[in-house]
Amino acid sequence: MTNAESAPEPSEPSEPSRAAGDFDLGALLAERGAERYELHTRHLNHQLPRMLHTIGFDKVYTRAEGAHLWDADGHDHLDMLAGFGVMGLGRHHPVVRKALHDVLDSSLADLTRFDCPPLPGLLAEELLTHSPHLDRVFFGNSGTEAVETALKFARYATGRPRVLYCAHAFHGLTAGSLSVNGESGFRDGFAPLLPDTAVPLGDPDALERELARGDVAALIVEPVQGKGVHAAPPGYLRAAQELLHRHRALLIADEVQTGLGRTGDFYAYQHEEGVEPDLVCVAKALSGGYVPVGATLGKDWIFRKVYSSMDRVLVHSASFGGNAQAMAAGLAVLSVMENEQVVANARATGELLRSRLAALVDTYELLADVRGRGLMIGIEFGRPRSLKLRGRWAMLQAARKGLFAQMVVVPLLQKHRILTQVSGDHLEVIKLIPPLIIGEREVDRFVDAFTAVMDDAHEGGLVWEFGRTLVRQTVADR
Ligand SMILES: Cc1ncc(COP(=O)(O)O)c(C=O)c1O
Repeated sequence: MTNAESAPEPSEPSEPSRAAGDFDLGALLAERGAERYELHTRHLNHQLPRMLHTIGFDKVYTRAEGAHLWDADGHDHLDMLAGFGVMGLGRHHPVVRKALHDVLDSSLADLTRFDCPPLPGLLAEELLTHSPHLDRVFFGNSGTEAVETALKFARYATGRPRVLYCAHAFHGLTAGSLSVNGESGFRDGFAPLLPDTAVPLGDPDALERELARGDVAALIVEPVQGKGVHAAPPGYLRAAQELLHRHRALLIADEVQTGLGRTGDFYAYQHEEGVEPDLVCVAKALSGGYVPVGATLGKDWIFRKVYSSMDRVLVHSASFGGNAQAMAAGLAVLSVMENEQVVANARATGELLRSRLAALVDTYELLADVRGRGLMIGIEFGRPRSLKLRGRWAMLQAARKGLFAQMVVVPLLQKHRILTQVSGDHLEVIKLIPPLIIGEREVDRFVDAFTAVMDDAHEGGLVWEFGRTLVRQTVADR
């Protein structure tokens, strides 16, 4: 008998042996779904339900599509938060959904770890077409992991320890990315972190002073900062890149929030000509909000240094990195972005929304500034001029900075069913990062609702009652 003859017949894939009904997700949710807030209070971060109850955000959403969420009573809510930016295409885009169904239905031999599956290669190829100066991609599972990868690669490639970051920066909350976080509220109590130094966003002289010490691996920067929605001033990224390269250090663009069309360019660094970061971090919207994903794009020489020999093949890796669901979703997202002209829509609709809101600055004394790019817009409130409002403003500021912005976010949801967020602790800024597929109808709905809330605030209306409640709670919480 030959070996071939003795080999067992390949068997037909067998049906799953477990009987249907072993696990029934629908029945579980029907039975226990109502306990959601209690479950979080008991087993997860108990401050989340507490905070949601306090500000009246303790809703139960039962269905979602595009930029809309529906509650149990069938009320439609406009989502201007997009799951902190992951829902770039809105919820349940049919093309992404189908790609994921296709993966699940195809019984792929995924994550064997000792083969080269096609999907990560195809997604890397596609992604790299949007940054032609970059050559290679590492796939992880989140924004912070994309940042960790960039920090490690920059340190290894340059052989230097120190990473510079900008004041008020946010790059994620694991230990490495926390080392380049610009807010003490996040860092305090977690030291020692990695060697790092903050520089002001937009100050090339401060950057050069640090570079002169010769130990800097890289500067990591959000081209538009998520906290407060501050864009790098014109010319800064280009100047920073030149200084960094002169000192043999790298420019890392953190595009976790700003990437994939959010600011009206595919990447926000592309707003400025001649900027070619050495490493680019991507995550959030890449998988259409369905599957955790992160990607670090970089130059060939950096990857070749890190993976310099066969021994080092796993020197930086992630067990779930490149998994088929995330990759298929990513490919579907990029295809939709092209077919539906998502970046162009973000630019045009963002400009419409920003300009209509900016036109209100002269009407409302509590409205200080409207800024941002594409569909990443910051609305900043400031000290009013009139005596009537100044006293009320001072009462809030004395309790805690940021309460006025919270006072606006709450009626936007409770009265107008629009979900937004305050853009950071102690900031009087609301950040709008809706799905990139919104259009004129959503812009009208938001501007009308915002105008009504501003009218109420300037007439000394109900919104201030809620402000007083917030002050009492803030004081009691201390
Ligand atoms: C600019 C930026 N970088 C990194 C992160 C961290 O991403 P993740 O929450 O997926 O870890 C975020 C999250 O908001 C971000 O905005």
